[in-house]
Amino acid sequence: MENQPGSQYSELNNKTSQNIDGGHTVKTRISRRNFLLGSSAVVAAGAMQGIPGTPFSPPISLMKSALGQAGIAMPDRVIRMNSNENPWGPSRAALRAISAAVEEANLYTYFLAGEMSELIGGLNNISPDHISVGAGSAELLKMGGLLASMDEGSIVVADPTFEDLPRYAGDNGSEVIRVPVNDKMETDLEAMASAIRRDTKLVYICNPNNPIPTIVEKNALRDFALEISRDRLVFIDEAYHEFVDNPEYSTMMDLVRDGHRNIIIARTASKIHGLAGLRVGFSFAHPDLAAEINRRMTGTLNIMGMRAALASYRDQEHSSFVLRMNKESLDITQGYFREAGIRHINSNANFTFVETGHDIAEVQARLLEHNIRVGRPFPPFRNWMRLSMAKPDEMRYFVQTYKKLYG
Ligand SMILES: Cc1ncc(COP(=O)(O)O)c(C=O)c1O
Repeated sequence: MENQPGSQYSELNNKTSQNIDGGHTVKTRISRRNFLLGSSAVVAAGAMQGIPGTPFSPPISLMKSALGQAGIAMPDRVIRMNSNENPWGPSRAALRAISAAVEEANLYTYFLAGEMSELIGGLNNISPDHISVGAGSAELLKMGGLLASMDEGSIVVADPTFEDLPRYAGDNGSEVIRVPVNDKMETDLEAMASAIRRDTKLVYICNPNNPIPTIVEKNALRDFALEISRDRLVFIDEAYHEFVDNPEYSTMMDLVRDGHRNIIIARTASKIHGLAGLRVGFSFAHPDLAAEINRRMTGTLNIMGMRAALASYRDQEHSSFVLRMNKESLDITQGYFREAGIRHINSNANFTFVETGHDIAEVQARLLEHNIRVGRPFPPFRNWMRLSMAKPDEMRYFVQTYKKLYG
């Protein structure tokens, strides 16, 4: 991941126009590179073919644009750059585990809970009684929202941020106090501290944030969490933790490990492990708080998700591969934005945030005509686009298309 402390927010001028590469270039490059079979590490892991969206899926075929636009090659299916998903899919170990788990579909998963907490606890150097396993980290986020809204009161969140926790707390009766990001488009801790009221039950920090992939500086966040959690919950969502390569960032897991009572950290198997569709996520909190979360959860995990996550967290090779590919995709995409003078946020995750200069609903529609689906509008940033990283060649196709439409 690109890491330029102090220049996270590229202060660049408006975009300059670029020449359009012909579609022929894209087409030959993609076939020459054997498009989706890029990793020897992954290929060496064995054979499992033809599962869409995995490293082993068949190459998408490219054809001339249906719109006949000067030979820009277009894939034969929509490329998802809209939901921060992992374009490589689950690891081969996870795929094997899923396959085997089909035979266990008659079983409840309680018997795997201990094994899961031991594994995740071991990887994070924290005892299993701190861990809750949810149907995606979204379930744990909602538990945070629920705990905050059980007595009347408010929560404080950045604006914009990931909405699952604030929406759930709001729907259950909390007042949601939204604090705009600062002029570097970072979560504004000082303004959030000032926005806290006597009745504030929880402060939510998404780090890296989503939809804007900035981080909160580690020392400032630690001080903030220690201070604010004296009287209320501090919920730190680290869904993109594994993608961050920035010395200014740190997980706050040590605060939970050290016994602080009002701090919850969330992580997920959806992102770097590519298991979003199987719904596995984790929270880490003081054992008393973890027990309360466990008592209130409504979802249960399914056997395929549990088996897949167990296998995936034991297999670090796939995560390293995904990380390398994500960096390559970001280099291609953000490299273009930089060269073209297009303002964007240097990503700390698997997506970037870029100023298009056009209403994003219109940009979405035009890109979709080229089989590229990008993120929804995030008001008040109506001209900004959240762009999730797909595979490197898919990002090359994006760059060519974007240049053609807006360059
Ligand atoms: C910041 C953040 N937190 C949590 C989630 C939810 O992830 P899941 O419920 O799949 O674990 C997402 C999903 O996009 C996210 O961006």
